Amino acid sequence: MTRPDPALRAIPSREPVLRIKDLTIAIGRPLVHGISLDLTPGRIHGLAGESGSGKTLTSLAVLGLLPRSAEVGGSITLEGTELLGLKRTQLNAVRGRRIAMVFQDPSTSLHPQLTIGHQLTAHIRAHLKVPKAEARRRAIVELDRVHVPDPEHALRRYPHQFSGGQRQRICIAGALACDPEVLLADEPTTALDVTVQAGILELLRGLTSERELAVLLVTHDLGVMSAIADDVTVMRSGRIVESAPRAELFHNPKDEYTRSLLAALPGSPLEKEAQRG
Ligand SMILES: Nc1ncnc2c1ncn2[C@@H]1O[C@H](COP(=O)(O)OP(=O)(O)O)[C@@H](O)[C@H]1O
Ligand SMILES: [Mg+2]
Repeated sequence: MTRPDPALRAIPSREPVLRIKDLTIAIGRPLVHGISLDLTPGRIHGLAGESGSGKTLTSLAVLGLLPRSAEVGGSITLEGTELLGLKRTQLNAVRGRRIAMVFQDPSTSLHPQLTIGHQLTAHIRAHLKVPKAEARRRAIVELDRVHVPDPEHALRRYPHQFSGGQRQRICIAGALACDPEVLLADEPTTALDVTVQAGILELLRGLTSERELAVLLVTHDLGVMSAIADDVTVMRSGRIVESAPRAELFHNPKDEYTRSLLAALPGSPLEKEAQRG
């Protein structure tokens, strides 16, 4: 009798945890025209496109942070629960806790006059309702996981006492402190020196796999995408022009606009082709 060897069973691909379906956003005028994408645990979904294409509006919609005047249609579900139309109190239980975010400029996400320890522990306690000492312990663990040196000492310091790259690591530590399922990162390396960008991306890549995070990485920079995204969606003028696993998109772009973006990447074969043509 033969029994199936468990080691030979195909690893089932994970179900998406967050699903955006036919999302439309209008603020005075239509700005996002029906976009759909899925975020899956352990994968980075890159959302690319030129400035003004609707990337930030899309991530703000997931967080329920669009201006009140915005008209939103379609569906955004977190493990099957519809997020659009949730009451403020229900949304607060999701935002920062199950869906965390990291923004472009780490200096605006941190309060300049409060210590890192104060900010991290307040954030953790607000969401997890744990005693102060436990929140502090978690903060130290998280700072260590994002490779901020001497976490205990870091807790006593103020944001300006850190470099931009270290500040972004601290923001990532804060975002992950409550063990979210989904991480939205909107241009997380755009404000940083090129030399520190790679380190932050590598960190995000590692954390995504280690903690089985479902990540939406928003960036206008396809170079960043090519470095770490598993799946890439390209937006233009509020619409998706192309969506595919990274390798497929980079090696065989179907859409003319995607091709033109790729051609602009330094050192890309398409760039050389474009120069010859
Ligand atoms: N609060 C707002 N009110 C009106 N229009 C907005 C608002 N926020 C963004 N927009 C417009 O929506 C479009 C998409 O913006 P955004 O999502 O920020 O683009 P991206 O992040 O891709 O650069 C742009 O044309 C922008 O001017
Ligand atoms: Mg933006």
